[in-house]
Amino acid sequence: MNIIVATKNQNKVNEIKKIFAPLGFNVMSQEDAGIDVDVEETGDTFAKNALIKARAVAMLCDDCVLADDSGLCVEALDGRPGVFSARYAGPGATDLEKIEKLLIEMQDKTNRKAKFVTNIAFIFPDGREIVTQGEVSGKILREPVGSNGFGYDPVFYSTELEKTFAQAEMDEKNRISHRGRALSALYDELKQIINNE
Ligand code: IMP
Repeated sequence: MNIIVATKNQNKVNEIKKIFAPLGFNVMSQEDAGIDVDVEETGDTFAKNALIKARAVAMLCDDCVLADDSGLCVEALDGRPGVFSARYAGPGATDLEKIEKLLIEMQDKTNRKAKFVTNIAFIFPDGREIVTQGEVSGKILREPVGSNGFGYDPVFYSTELEKTFAQAEMDEKNRISHRGRALSALYDELKQIINNE
């Protein structure tokens, strides 16, 4: 059975392929499936946005569809940037500009607690929907440390890894990351469903 991943990011597709190929799924990007759709993420939660993306692709094929939506939620900023993580410093802003904006907003904050959150939506060809969630906790540093990863990784200090996500190797980060955990929760649910059918 095919899984079409509703993303244009090949790294995400490769990560998902590694996890779901052993369950017998053939994982491919929406581009590989010949589907060209770009939806606006208008939801006010990660789960709603993941579903918006997955449903848009599911309408155009008869395969399983997977979509994810992630972001950084900072406690002292009432959960911001949240669903606006990618657009936090305006459209087209670089990762560095987003980090700069975050550090300015966090200048006077003593509570540095933050978490990355991912929701994954999975839709079966018969329309059944599964949504899973993964989270990882940490703290926002006062300046960037490390050069790996992307996005907010250089200022996100993982309390589990005892270093920033930008100091972690990719496999090390994937093992405990919000996305890794949401994928692992989906893997468990799919395995159970497959075993019961
Ligand atoms: P997406 O939904 O996975 O595209 O994530 C939206 C935005 O959240 C990204 O553009 C990043 O700014 C931020 N983000 C999500 N996951 C991570 C991560 O693992 N590290 C750093 N930033 C992330």
